[in-house]
Amino acid sequence: MDINNYINSIKINWNKQEYKDYYNDISSLKNLNSLDFKKKITFFVGENGSGKSTLLEAIAVNYGFNPEGGSINYNFSTNSTHSSLSDFLLLSKGIRAKDGFFLRAESFYNMASYVDDIGVDLDGYGGRSLHEQSHGESFLSLINNRFRGNGLYLLDEPETALSPQRQLSLLIKINELVNNNSQFIIVTHSPILLGIDDACIYSFDSEIINQITYEETESYNITKLFIENRKSLLKRLYSNK
Ligand SMILES: Nc1ncnc2c1ncn2[C@@H]1O[C@H](COP(=O)(O)OP(=O)(O)OP(=O)(O)O)[C@@H](O)[C@H]1O
Ligand SMILES: [Mg+2]
Repeated sequence: MDINNYINSIKINWNKQEYKDYYNDISSLKNLNSLDFKKKITFFVGENGSGKSTLLEAIAVNYGFNPEGGSINYNFSTNSTHSSLSDFLLLSKGIRAKDGFFLRAESFYNMASYVDDIGVDLDGYGGRSLHEQSHGESFLSLINNRFRGNGLYLLDEPETALSPQRQLSLLIKINELVNNNSQFIIVTHSPILLGIDDACIYSFDSEIINQITYEETESYNITKLFIENRKSLLKRLYSNK
């Protein structure tokens, strides 16, 4: 049975593109025509540089988020690094999300500064300036206090700042929000987050973006291989064999 999401699918209308851009050289994206979001949680996985953030950002911008991150209403300056791929996207939308956040680990610091600058009611951020909290603390306080449910949450590597224990806390929070009518699209390398049940995992590692299982992800396999064979693996790695 299909679930009605805030974003049910995307299509790319390449005919609208007048000039080639860098994403035309990314193999996972250049062959992409459409992608379905049938689950409440969709993960994007793949090697560094495989196009995950580019696609997530294009979806976010098309939906109305600022390319630098933030909630749908935030309107802080952008140095326009966002990709115009969003211009060719067609989003098949369900009802409008009541809440939403586009969280980019790499520009979280700028967003924290913005929250400080405009003097946002800090209750939503745990009562303290995000800059006065550690990276992981501020990240989780944002999610715990500001993500209210009935929302669309687009997260780019949310595990970056978090200890394994806090990744488990994030996993619990995501589950709560999903039970409260939320949809997530998450770029991640975390074998912990990827373990969430009933999610769709899209791999960007081949010419066509394809759905894989948890056990097929590199994050799972390499972590498992390392933990189970650490000593022999290290020996092999050091001797370049
Ligand atoms: N603004 C840009 N201009 C030119 N090339 C870009 C731009 N942004 C990204 N790229 C290139 O596009 C490719 C895909 O980048 P992207 O950030 O989408 O990768 P990613 O899958 O998110 O990787 P990672 O796991 O390292 O975050 C990379 O080769 C990157 O160098
Ligand atoms: Mg990325």
